[in-house]
Amino acid sequence: MIGEPRTHVAECESTQLLLGPDDPEGAIATTDHQTAGRGRLGRAWIEAPGTSALVSVQLRPPSGRRASELSLVAAAAVALALEDVTGTAAQVKWPNDVLLAGRKVAGILAELRGGSVVLGIGVNVNQTEEQLPRDAKVPPGSLRALDGVERDREGVLAAVLHRLDRLYAAWREVGLAAVHADLGERDYLRGLQVRTDAGLGVAAGIDDAGRLLVRTDGGTVAVASGEIDLVP
Ligand code: BTN
Repeated sequence: MIGEPRTHVAECESTQLLLGPDDPEGAIATTDHQTAGRGRLGRAWIEAPGTSALVSVQLRPPSGRRASELSLVAAAAVALALEDVTGTAAQVKWPNDVLLAGRKVAGILAELRGGSVVLGIGVNVNQTEEQLPRDAKVPPGSLRALDGVERDREGVLAAVLHRLDRLYAAWREVGLAAVHADLGERDYLRGLQVRTDAGLGVAAGIDDAGRLLVRTDGGTVAVASGEIDLVP
């Protein structure tokens, strides 16, 4: 069961540092504020104190599953949870961003440590417009900026953990097929012009292995990782 045991601290550098090899699968670490929050590709994850749902989860994927797929499993879980909470359709920007109304409201960081994955999730819940970062690549948002409602962060966390618990169990059973349809219906990039390590092209969906398909002049390529820039 994801969510037990739970360690909560008022402040820390990063919840990713609060879980170690002795923690059982499903253990979580939460905080009200990170002083050195980590984003993907070495970026910082910055939030005003007391505004966000910030959690790291200890997972031990079974052999035979690709741990790299857990970013997508978590993205689908967060998207579904935010739909539960807001009633607004969410989108997933491959591989790890969750958007509401075209603005990034949540990010996911999966760190592989031996046979474990520490899965970090940050959701912007109660930030005002002024509290959102200004220099982000994808326009940042929060649930509050979306609909003006100030929410209990614990409620948002509970919704995320509930969806993650179910999707992770399904993924353990059947692999990425457990979330493929949910992702496809919420694929933000599909049809947009993107620049990837494979060059320029048009995003054309997510394949069975969780790779981003990009239609280029030289044919369709499957991108497994790296930076995806939108081309205006
Ligand atoms: C990204 O969008 O680049 C990923 C952001 C992940 C942020 C979360 S907040 C909880 C956990 N602790 C961290 O330091 N990072 C993740």
